[in-house]
Amino acid sequence: MEKPYQILPDIEIIPAHFPIPGMGFLAVNAFVIKAEEPVLVDTGMEIDSEEFMKALESVIDPQDLRWIWLTHDDADHTGSIEKVLESAPNARLAANSLAVLRMSTAWAVPMDRVYWLNSGDSIRVGDRKLTAVRPPLFDNPTTIGIYDNKSGVFFSADCFGAIIPSPAQDLDDVSEGDLVQGAISWASADSPWVHMVEPGLFSKAVDSIRQMAPKIILSMHLPPARGKTEQLLEVLERLPASAPFVTPNQTALEQILAQTSGAS
Ligand SMILES: [Fe+2]
Ligand SMILES: [Fe+2]
Repeated sequence: MEKPYQILPDIEIIPAHFPIPGMGFLAVNAFVIKAEEPVLVDTGMEIDSEEFMKALESVIDPQDLRWIWLTHDDADHTGSIEKVLESAPNARLAANSLAVLRMSTAWAVPMDRVYWLNSGDSIRVGDRKLTAVRPPLFDNPTTIGIYDNKSGVFFSADCFGAIIPSPAQDLDDVSEGDLVQGAISWASADSPWVHMVEPGLFSKAVDSIRQMAPKIILSMHLPPARGKTEQLLEVLERLPASAPFVTPNQTALEQILAQTSGAS
């Protein structure tokens, strides 16, 4: 994990980069919105849990958190959820009902602290309204991103992710070529259904984000993207017609293992 840093005076990122052998790095971000009712968005990877809790405590006293918003129940977003719920007794868990149901198969979710949201629903957190928005791309049916009406930030869950050559603190530090290639690979690998979608229908979903016109896109799998919304939307529009990503098979694994053992 890396040190948290400010994106806006009232929004901080808790960043990590997960190495993907032979391909690069995938950001795995969580965020703290320092609203009147402070919100933690996602809880990182379980493998980082100890470090994650320290990073969170460096940003905010967990006792002050009023909301923990899970964009979906995938393991790279729920890594520290139980620890955070324990150390943030004043926080409610905002998530899609199906995400809560699915998590309940693994641990006892405190249902009296849960707040169920569908896409289109909003919560007021004092100085702003957070609206659940299902992004155009998702790898899990429970996905709800967040549009923050005060900052104009769209927290986009897995959508707009990219595998990048090296860790970066801002999307400006990633070349345009690397971004386009990394974003198409990630989107095709993570949401392979996009190749079965009628392009016109998919464009409508992309257009809904264009109309929302977020100033900053904060994906859980991309460095912060300021003023790059149109560029990122255009990459998404290329997806249905792009070549499907082929995940590495056993031959690739053997090559990776041979390289790793050769290097040691
Ligand atoms: Fe996911
Ligand atoms: Fe993810």
